[in-house]
Amino acid sequence: MKICVLPGDGIGPEITAEAVRVLKALDLRIEMEEALLGGCAVDATGNPYPEATQNLARASDAVLLGAVGGPQWDNLPREQRPERGLLGIRKDLGLFANLRPAILYPELANASTLKPEVVAGLDILIVRELTGDIYFGQPRGIEVRNGERVGFNTMIYSESEIRRILRVAFEAAMKRNKKVCSVDKMNVLECTQLWRDVAIEVGKEYPEVELSHLLVDNAAMQLVRAPKQFDVMVTGNMFGDILSDEASMLTGSIGMLPSASLDANNKGMYEPSHGSAPDIAGQGVANPLATILSAAMMLRYTFADEAAAQRVEGAVKKVLAQGFRTGDIYEPGTKRVGTREMGDAVLAAL
Ligand code: IPM
Ligand code: MG
Repeated sequence: MKICVLPGDGIGPEITAEAVRVLKALDLRIEMEEALLGGCAVDATGNPYPEATQNLARASDAVLLGAVGGPQWDNLPREQRPERGLLGIRKDLGLFANLRPAILYPELANASTLKPEVVAGLDILIVRELTGDIYFGQPRGIEVRNGERVGFNTMIYSESEIRRILRVAFEAAMKRNKKVCSVDKMNVLECTQLWRDVAIEVGKEYPEVELSHLLVDNAAMQLVRAPKQFDVMVTGNMFGDILSDEASMLTGSIGMLPSASLDANNKGMYEPSHGSAPDIAGQGVANPLATILSAAMMLRYTFADEAAAQRVEGAVKKVLAQGFRTGDIYEPGTKRVGTREMGDAVLAAL
């Protein structure tokens, strides 16, 4: 098994190092090799997703990514920006299925800004389509029409793209609480009318699963009003981007949430749901748990090693129960630790 490790920018290298230590401690037959993605790749090669990285990522079974981006690259031309590297690798590897769990750990119930009774026991899986929609649709651009600038993008989905992501959501629901909520904006956008039509068709293949539909504005409201009504939520690339950030904050800290982006054969890229946090980069205070939990998702989905995945997740639960906290989840009465000490605690718990 070969893992391509992409530490990226900001806190990326610090948090990835801890996940790599955890993977090594498991004594699995894994080979790991590092490459550049994002701002660090732009600095070194001028390209946020350089050829060497493309070759390594394509030849690997899985990719472990830290985070990309930072203010020093914000004014570069669009095709050189770190985010372009991220979108590039998703598209290049065909990683169309983005799984973003939002789970509230009981020890962290106070970290949420919502009332504990609203979020206690929360366990939602957001399934976001990742290689289509307005993110990639053509035509796109900014140009002058009738003497003024106009900006435009294209929201587009083919039925095969919709069908395959809906199937991922239904398959996931079959292993969970058998509920899928499909999110669209069919009252305004034709593209998402097709989304709803196809969702209903795919739903017929899964009679055991309860399928519901919400318009995206209502879904955003329901997520903060009564989030526990949801099991699996499935939606397109842009709505999923927004709703998954919203869902993450139900749990109090985005620093705890992993994600997986899978292709049709369970090759995957695994990364924390949070960003590169340039404000705390290099200080050794970032929370490595989302990256460590992303490594657990890798063991589960790409390497089909459920036992190893649960060992890692169990170790994370244990360090929380022991009271170890990085700054983002700290509260009085717990033990405040840095990135490396948190990694040490997980290794000890393993
Ligand atoms: C995410 C991020 C990316 C996205 C950005 C960095 C391009 O927000 O993974 O959710 O919009 O997909
Ligand atoms: Mg996002």
